[in-house]
Amino acid sequence: MLAMNKFRILGATVITIAASVMITSCGHDKRSTGWEYAPNMYEHIAYDPDQKNPNFKDGKTAQVPPAGTIPVGFVRFDYPNTKDGYEKASLEVKSPMAQTKQNFAEGQVLFMHYCSPCHGETGQGDGLVTQHGYPNPPSYSKGQSSRGGAMKDLTDGKIYHTITYGVNAMGSYASQLNPDERWKVVMYIHHLQTL
Ligand code: HEC
Repeated sequence: MLAMNKFRILGATVITIAASVMITSCGHDKRSTGWEYAPNMYEHIAYDPDQKNPNFKDGKTAQVPPAGTIPVGFVRFDYPNTKDGYEKASLEVKSPMAQTKQNFAEGQVLFMHYCSPCHGETGQGDGLVTQHGYPNPPSYSKGQSSRGGAMKDLTDGKIYHTITYGVNAMGSYASQLNPDERWKVVMYIHHLQTL
């Protein structure tokens, strides 16, 4: 009997607390967040990016990175998306990728995923989408580049530039392939140029 009472008292207490939490959290002020659990999450010590900040000269928290700096791990490619940039990359940029079987095999997998739908599995420009009205890209071994010269003569720099920026109907693959992956694909395209 005593045990039953204990449970009742406990139950009533829980209900009372729950009810008062509910009532106090729905105040009349509609803009109030009400009862806050762990207020540090809202009123933390760190500055928010959009907050005023007396520690910097311009009074802003979000600072522009100093000129000439790059994020950690970022690989520079200082050749603009122009015909001149393409030709310059052709002369100056060489693949830093070791010519190993593993890199070649990874290049093949990446090519099959990202490029073969248009360029075809053997690089002849007869990928699946060309059967649905998409213009055929030129064959890597027998075609002509729209920027002059035979496709089989495309250099490291030209192919890397194309993957980075795209060309005409072909989009950029810079957001899908990181620099190392691009070089692996370049390695595989050199193989397709010989077919
Ligand atoms: C959506 C279809 C499509 C995909 C996917 C695609 N390409 Fe292309 N690609 C084209 C077309 C079309 C051209 C011809 C563009 C032109 O010269 O007008 C082309 C041209 C090229 C060229 C020749 C550039 C030059 O200098 O003439 C290279 C190299 C190339 N693509 C590589 C790749 C690689 C590598 C991938 C995968 C990462 C890829 N492409 C994915 C459609 C595609």
